[in-house]
Amino acid sequence: MAKILIKNAEIITMNPQDEQFKGDILIENDKIIAIGSDLYEPKLDKIIDATNRVVIPGFIQTHIHLCQTLFRGKGDDLELMDWLKRRIWPLEAAHDEESIYYSALLGIGELIQSGTTSIVDMETVHHTDYAFQAIASSGIRALSGKVMMDKGNEVPKPLQETTYGSIMKSVNLMEKWDMFDGGRIKYAFSPRFVVSCTEELLREVSSLSEKYNVFVHTHASENKGEISIVEQETGMRNVVYLDHLGLANERLILAHCVWLDEEEKRIIKEKKVHVSHCPGSNLKLASGIAEIPSLLDDQICVSLGADGAPCNNNLDMFNEMRLAALIQKPEHGPTAMDAKTVFKMATIGGAKAIGMANEVGSIEVGKKADLAILNLNDLHMYPSYDVDTISRIVYSATRADVETTIVNGKVLMENRILKTIDKNTIMYEANIAIKRLLTRIPKLTSIS
Ligand code: GUN
Ligand code: FE
Repeated sequence: MAKILIKNAEIITMNPQDEQFKGDILIENDKIIAIGSDLYEPKLDKIIDATNRVVIPGFIQTHIHLCQTLFRGKGDDLELMDWLKRRIWPLEAAHDEESIYYSALLGIGELIQSGTTSIVDMETVHHTDYAFQAIASSGIRALSGKVMMDKGNEVPKPLQETTYGSIMKSVNLMEKWDMFDGGRIKYAFSPRFVVSCTEELLREVSSLSEKYNVFVHTHASENKGEISIVEQETGMRNVVYLDHLGLANERLILAHCVWLDEEEKRIIKEKKVHVSHCPGSNLKLASGIAEIPSLLDDQICVSLGADGAPCNNNLDMFNEMRLAALIQKPEHGPTAMDAKTVFKMATIGGAKAIGMANEVGSIEVGKKADLAILNLNDLHMYPSYDVDTISRIVYSATRADVETTIVNGKVLMENRILKTIDKNTIMYEANIAIKRLLTRIPKLTSIS
């Protein structure tokens, strides 16, 4: 099958020695099979000349909602529970199969354009098959699952599900999509957050996750209002409650974790729970600033995610890296969250979070070929002389500097041209889909 040689690149490996050097990368099928200088291979399908280019491990975003991409601009300037009740839940309730499909493709196109090669995605209650189809055809690597929500106030009728129905639907999707395309796609059980889930559902998710060795992806301790609802209902803090139900382990990815107390931090550390830090979303929803330096001091695995388009409003890892670094500095000083720490979170940190540190997250022989090629030859990147390349990427680069994106050895974007997604069709269909979707919620006058 396909053999690709990337020539003359500056390679930021993110391997355990943090090596950076000029060289070539040889890809065969889905894997990197050689890294070195002047690599030669007689039967190549493609040569990419990466002279004056930087090759990095593709970004891994551990908290995304592809189903919400169509809602970009529809949830501005609200705080979490209002944002959910007044905007996001009614919008999700009005989705159809086609709108889910185009919402997912729109998001995936943006992610590939900005160098993201793996995502952890949370869908909505219905039509998740169509998101998986978009993921499958686009070539991106993903852990995804239908959201589970069998309880809650002011949840629109179409999003209300029974405990049994939610579990059956999740298991059916898992059986169909987990390990699809050789494991490029994996299933993740996705209870929305404690506020939306019964104890029975969460206990069942815990045992299914263990039985099938499948990840659990949920939101926790994002917002003070959310925490007080959980405390009123359970008498416990979020993470303590999740641990009480058997969910705190190395298969759990918790988005946000802005307001953890010491006991919650201890549980996360001891049980090796993964934290997905979403700085853009946390600022825009006025949730707060997560205490990431202290989590990192405790050796907790922290990775990054843009969250959904209506609470960011981008799916761009360059934004998240820059914010992750800058927001800590006023409180913790200028050396807190340096560029390298943040770049690690965006690459190998994400790989650890999804249990794939041996397969993705760094450029090493034997790993999957999930790469982004950056062209940093523009005014905003200069002077380059004697400037650390990771500093240039984290503090100065933008998504427009990503030239080529490769996932599983397949070129998904080359010279800024998307190969598996027709950009103009998606933009056209996205507008039609949201227009049709909005006609289903006429009572929502607050939706602009
Ligand atoms: N908490 C529960 N649901 C959501 C969601 O869709 N987005 C965010 N940011 N937080 C949530
Ligand atoms: Fe979210």
